[in-house]
Amino acid sequence: MLFFLNCFSLPLIIASAEIYKPHIVFIVADDLGWDDVSFHGSDQLLTPNIDTLMYHGVCLNQYYTDAEGTPSRSAMFTGKYAMRLGAQGISIKASEDRGIPPTERLLPDYLRELGYSTNLVGKWGIGKSRPHYLPSNRGFDTFYGFLGDAVDYFTYNAIDKSNAATFYGLDFFDDMEPVENENRHLTTILTEKAVKVIREHNASTPLYLHLSHAAPHIGGALADLQPPLDSLKDNEYIAHPLRRLFAGLVTSMDKSVGNVVAALAERDMLQNTLIIFVSDNGAPTVGASKNYGSNFPFRGVKSTPWEGAVRSVAVAWHASIPPRIHKGLFHVTDWLPTLVSAAGGRVKDKIDGVNQWDIILNKDEIPQRNDILISIDELRGWAALRDGDMKIIVGDFGQNYNGHYGLNLKQVKHNTPFYEDVLLDSEIGHVFKETLGLFLDINLAYVKRSDINLTQLYEGSYKDICTPTKAKGCLFNISADPFEVRDLWNSSPEIVKHLSLRLRSFWADLQPRSQPISDLRANPAKRGYVWLPWLENNAQSVVQAPPLPAFPLKVTSDEVQHLVNLNIDDFRTKVNKYISIMGESIRLSVESLFSLH
Ligand SMILES: *[C@@H]1O[C@H](CO)[C@@H](O)[C@H](O)[C@H]1NC(C)=O
Ligand SMILES: *[C@@H]1O[C@H](CO)[C@@H](O)[C@H](O)[C@H]1NC(C)=O
Ligand SMILES: *[C@@H]1O[C@H](CO)[C@@H](O)[C@H](O)[C@H]1NC(C)=O
Repeated sequence: MLFFLNCFSLPLIIASAEIYKPHIVFIVADDLGWDDVSFHGSDQLLTPNIDTLMYHGVCLNQYYTDAEGTPSRSAMFTGKYAMRLGAQGISIKASEDRGIPPTERLLPDYLRELGYSTNLVGKWGIGKSRPHYLPSNRGFDTFYGFLGDAVDYFTYNAIDKSNAATFYGLDFFDDMEPVENENRHLTTILTEKAVKVIREHNASTPLYLHLSHAAPHIGGALADLQPPLDSLKDNEYIAHPLRRLFAGLVTSMDKSVGNVVAALAERDMLQNTLIIFVSDNGAPTVGASKNYGSNFPFRGVKSTPWEGAVRSVAVAWHASIPPRIHKGLFHVTDWLPTLVSAAGGRVKDKIDGVNQWDIILNKDEIPQRNDILISIDELRGWAALRDGDMKIIVGDFGQNYNGHYGLNLKQVKHNTPFYEDVLLDSEIGHVFKETLGLFLDINLAYVKRSDINLTQLYEGSYKDICTPTKAKGCLFNISADPFEVRDLWNSSPEIVKHLSLRLRSFWADLQPRSQPISDLRANPAKRGYVWLPWLENNAQSVVQAPPLPAFPLKVTSDEVQHLVNLNIDDFRTKVNKYISIMGESIRLSVESLFSLH
């Protein structure tokens, strides 16, 4: 236990050299769970390329995202919490008129200003109803991929079933030209395009390639789990048939990571490329859009504020950065200032992200971040915040999806391939050896893997675990209790008071969003069965955000008494202290505290 909590560090084999304007290849997986990479998981689902990148790179072991696609990707591209943009909660539906406000500056825009060529391959997912929401108008020089949440892996069609009629059409573009002449597996064509971008890139210009996979999200249109057929034999030993299909989506994506690294080596760019591999959020093991991914041993699934939804896979690699495991907090909003800093720039706008470039370079062991607004959703009525060791969750929860899932998916029919052999035979393993002279020390790899193995702390059959209600939330010490099973709400009233006040303050400050209502004008049948923007930039919106609902936690008489008991000077001092931390929003929070019932 103590060994586990201690910070593990490898001897510095490579001194961290000065890195100047590295190429940046940012790879995002969609709905990949914590337990779906083999450096976290069992020997069941093998991801030798991603694992090799991790063993030679920086593993971000407390990397937090939001609970689903749109909020997470909005935060990644803007460096701001999704709640400041109306991007929180349920992802944008295919026929919903919503997107990141055009006044926001996105990561590709910053990088372009710093001389980068900016390329998006794959999923966008943060708005497409109007031209000003599209990637080409948000800083990307080139775009090849899909604009919505998910598409079928072979027809690239997106379906919106939320209307009286079902809307369907092609959502796949080369810049904004519909791609009508393809029928190969989506992962194959995205990988091929990413490799082409690298091959055709003039390396005297820094490259930013954002490769945003559809995998392992469900296709969702015609069928859910659609791996490439040739991936099935790699996973034939996995007992659960749907887990096996899911595994095919993951292993083909893992191979894609290998192909991209090989292309960088071929072009002599690998030596100065920063490669990031992350998932956008946890897996939906059960429930809506379930893909049989697993977040085990974390609690919950995608679209909840539990760790399973928001503690995601994250690796950063550069040939000159010493490998290690970073156990401090890192949030999806931190990529914007961190990558801009890596590219030699500075972000002057007010954002929530923290520049953690020195952490990645291992120049700074002082934690750069102490707290994270994990997720806030005023429509479903919940909010969660991490502060130091502690995590508070408030809201009106249903009884669904609050457990620990995925253990039943781990069975194998017979012996799995030997991890070591698969690892040493990975494409990245070969490329690192041949191009950079980097050899994997298999013993160190095993030590690292064991150091971050959370399953060994899992005791199982947890009974009566806390689920928030409007009368009472839950409070956990995540450092001691990563599985969120020991509620400290009643035993830590001071922490509860402090953290719930901070959540109230964020709540009062959020940019309310509209209900996920379909716009009937979006129907692609009107545009040749292609999902093209259907509104002018200045068109009137048909949906309005409803008034902000009340914070989903009752004010206790104890809290009111606490305020009444404070003499006015003391109160002022406390409020001033909060203001210095949180700005003007605290005033709204205190107001809302009194106006609530
Ligand atoms: C790459 O760009 C540099 C600088 O703009 C230029 O001098 C060089 O000719 C280019 N190389 C190719 C192969 O286009
Ligand atoms: C993690 O620990 C569990 C329980 O001790 C063990 O069964 C599993 O094989 C370990 N996994 C890895 C990847 O080391
Ligand atoms: C959380 O648990 C850790 C490990 O047991 C302990 O060191 C730390 O003091 C706890 N934090 C708080 C705020 O109670």
